[in-house]
Amino acid sequence: MIAVAIASLSGGQGKTTASLFLSRLLASRGYPTLAIDADPQHNLTTYLGLELQPNQPTLLEVLKKSVPIEDGIYPVEGSDNLFLIPSDDGLDAAADYLPIQQRCRRYPVAAPPRTCCRSLQILYH
Ligand SMILES: Nc1ncnc2c1ncn2[C@@H]1O[C@H](COP(=O)(O)OP(=O)(O)O)[C@@H](O)[C@H]1O
Ligand SMILES: [Mg+2]
Repeated sequence: MIAVAIASLSGGQGKTTASLFLSRLLASRGYPTLAIDADPQHNLTTYLGLELQPNQPTLLEVLKKSVPIEDGIYPVEGSDNLFLIPSDDGLDAAADYLPIQQRCRRYPVAAPPRTCCRSLQILYH
């Protein structure tokens, strides 16, 4: 499995656009692809055409483990290979459910001296 984190420290940098086109490209080339919308603005969810009912699970419920991850994965219409874990406004509350943040409100991070997925995850949080 290859995980690609598309992150930047400000808005309007093309994260959603890159996620959308990369997901569609990989799926169109036959790779089963899971897009994950980790932005409470949920533009990727909107662009992929998913309209959620308020009671349907999103990335927030997956992170809270209140549903199995499978329940948070939706097929994207029109593509056999593309799936999405969507988000909605409620994802703003996600930090409250991360175990480390329940225990500590400040946490200095010693990141490795190179660019890698883990470094990007650390920066994104
Ligand atoms: N490669 C690109 N070239 C030109 N415009 C782009 C490119 N990628 C994104 N945009 C435009 O930049 C704006 C912000 O893109 P978006 O993907 O919403 O950014 P982000 O998700 O980082 O906030 C949008 O209007 C989008 O159409
Ligand atoms: Mg965006």
